[in-house]
Amino acid sequence: MKYPDILKPDFSARDIASGVDQTISHRWSPRSFRKAAIADEDIQTLFEAARWAPSCFNAQPWTFHLSTDESFDKYLSLLAEGNRIWAKNASLIGFVVVKKTFEHNGKPNNYAEFDAGAAWMAMSLQARQMGLYTHGMGGIHHQQVAEYLALDDDHKVVCGIVIGIADTPDALPAEVAAKEKPSARKPLSQVLRR
Ligand SMILES: Cc1cc2nc3c(=O)[nH]c(=O)nc-3n(C[C@H](O)[C@H](O)[C@H](O)COP(=O)(O)O)c2cc1C
Repeated sequence: MKYPDILKPDFSARDIASGVDQTISHRWSPRSFRKAAIADEDIQTLFEAARWAPSCFNAQPWTFHLSTDESFDKYLSLLAEGNRIWAKNASLIGFVVVKKTFEHNGKPNNYAEFDAGAAWMAMSLQARQMGLYTHGMGGIHHQQVAEYLALDDDHKVVCGIVIGIADTPDALPAEVAAKEKPSARKPLSQVLRR
């Protein structure tokens, strides 16, 4: 791993059935990050992974808007306060935007957010392979983000993301540190019907 992962999280809350690839079952979303730069070539690799996600009509309706050194503070200011507290130490902040209509016929693309979710997940799994972590954020100021990015009506801000190098939980305020562990899931029987 290019980015050494110092965390040894307790996965005991996860009743992971055998056979699942650990890149998937051991992915989780920390909030404690150690401020450090991610090399440009690695940023390219992360979003190259996202590029290979499937999408309806292969429309690839997502755009990832990513902070630079210069714009990081502006991006941070567009997050809800509860997220700013910890996201400030991430290496990168981003916003996921989708095009609401298909390019080929102008009709509404009802699958755009589904597709963007697939792209984000591909990027997140690639991040784990490289020793990096991601964290999604619904807690953003959607309208302000749209204005800052000068989006037209055919585009929608879906959510925020961070990418970073994890730090130990003691670097967080106590109330945030308490949540800093891999979470459980609903039983499969609740989400799989056959
Ligand atoms: C679309 C989306 C929005 C989220 N919004 C927030 C958020 O605003 N703040 C936060 O701390 N975590 C947020 N999360 C993280 C989720 O709470 C987390 O992914 C979930 O609890 C499962 O935990 P895990 O990712 O560690 O497996 C969000 C995740 C996603 C995918």
